[in-house]
This record gives sequence, C-alpha cells and structure tokens, in this order.
Amino acid sequence: MNIAIDGPGGSGKSVLAKNIAKKLGLVYVDTGALYRAVGLYSINHNIARTDREAIVGTLDSIKIELLYVDGEQHVLLCGQDVGDAIRTPEASMYASAVSALPEVRAFLDKTQRDMVARGGVVMDGRDIGTVIMPDADVKIFLFASPEHRARRRYEELLAKGQNVSYEDVLSDITERDRADRERDASPAVPADDAVMLDNSGFEPKDTFAAAIRIINEKTGGHYSDVL
Ligand code: DC
Repeated sequence: MNIAIDGPGGSGKSVLAKNIAKKLGLVYVDTGALYRAVGLYSINHNIARTDREAIVGTLDSIKIELLYVDGEQHVLLCGQDVGDAIRTPEASMYASAVSALPEVRAFLDKTQRDMVARGGVVMDGRDIGTVIMPDADVKIFLFASPEHRARRRYEELLAKGQNVSYEDVLSDITERDRADRERDASPAVPADDAVMLDNSGFEPKDTFAAAIRIINEKTGGHYSDVL
C-alpha cells in the first residue's frame, strides 16, 4: 500500500501524511525536506538562489540520507541532521528555486525511489502522483485558498519562534505556488487520477477524516474501522 499526497505549500500535507502513517502503519516520507536540504547547502555556501550553475555545481559535494527515528524522518545533509534549519522562509524560497532545476530533481530521484521500493509509504510532495509514484494505490491532491494556507504557515512559524509577518508569508506562498506550478521540470500539478481535496477552513481531524474516506473508496473499505 503506497499513498501519494501532493499539493501546494501550507495545504497541510505533512500533518495529514503523518496522521495517515501513524494510523495505517506506513512510513511517512516528506520529499520537500530533500529539496530544502539542497537549498540549505546553497544558503550555507552563500550561493544566490538565481545562480543555477553554482547550485548544480554543489550536487557533487552533497550527500543526503533519510533516517527514521521513532517514525520521525530526519534528513542528514553531509552527515548532519538539518533539523529546523530547513524550515525558515529563506529555506522555503531556496527549496522552490532549486526544485525547478532538472539536475536537482534527477539527483533526488534515487533517494525517493529507494523509499518507494521499500513499500508501505505515504509520501508527500509536488510530483509524487505524477512522477515518483505513478502507480500509487491512492493519490490525493490537497489544496486550500492561499489565505488559509498562509494563515496556517504563519501560525506554524510563530510557534517555532520565528519573527515573520502574515503579509510576507502570504506573498511567499503566492510566489512559490506560481514558480512550482509554472516550472518545466515536473510542475506541481495534480495527476489525472488524483482525488482533489479542498481543505480550506478544515481542522486537521476533518482533513484526516476526508482522506480516510478517499482511501476507503479506493481500497474497497479496507480501512473502514479507522474513523
Ligand atoms: O513541501 P515543501 O514546502 O517542504 O517543499 C519545498 C519546495 O520543494 C517546494 O517549493 C517545491 C519543492 N518540491 C518539489 O518540487 N517536489 C517535491 N516532490 C517536493 C517539494
């Protein structure tokens, strides 16, 4: 059983994927963290996010590993756990910039496919249903209005003690949406066979319930006792 969850930033993919993983006994794979780690490497080496050549040039020096401790994913960048350093607004913008480069996508392809090959994953990202797991048993495209997503991201960043304004978060989200959707390499668009789930105004438990209903429809009621 493999589940693909795609959708724009701040739509609640990671919370949903974590909840599904816990209830269904699957491994949660956050693929955005891989792009964030590649972006962080450029930040740490003072490379501008518009400098495609320099970013591609870093790939030979980058080693990325995924580690699972008590069901939690840890990303190791050249052996170091990157923790929350990949969650800053700057790291978000870098992640979006590096993710538009085909060389970066190719570089991260194997790490993701190795996880798929293990089976039993719920993976979130932008191209999971279209490129990484085209044969996933269930594909959900999770989205919400930019304002709802910005509000959630803003509250998340505040809770982490980051000093941000709602307006900046909203403008970052809108800019990142456009860049992710309009890029040539694996644009962030729904797979033809994805189920669209709009969770504007939902609490995480509502999104979870809606997703379980979709999973049950796709698997013949296999998980009907979960709700
Ligand atoms: O889900 P996230 O916000 O952590 O993702 C960070 C960036 O990485 C996002 O702007 C788009 C990119 N990304 C991608 O292109 N493909 C994926 N499978 C996951 C993320």
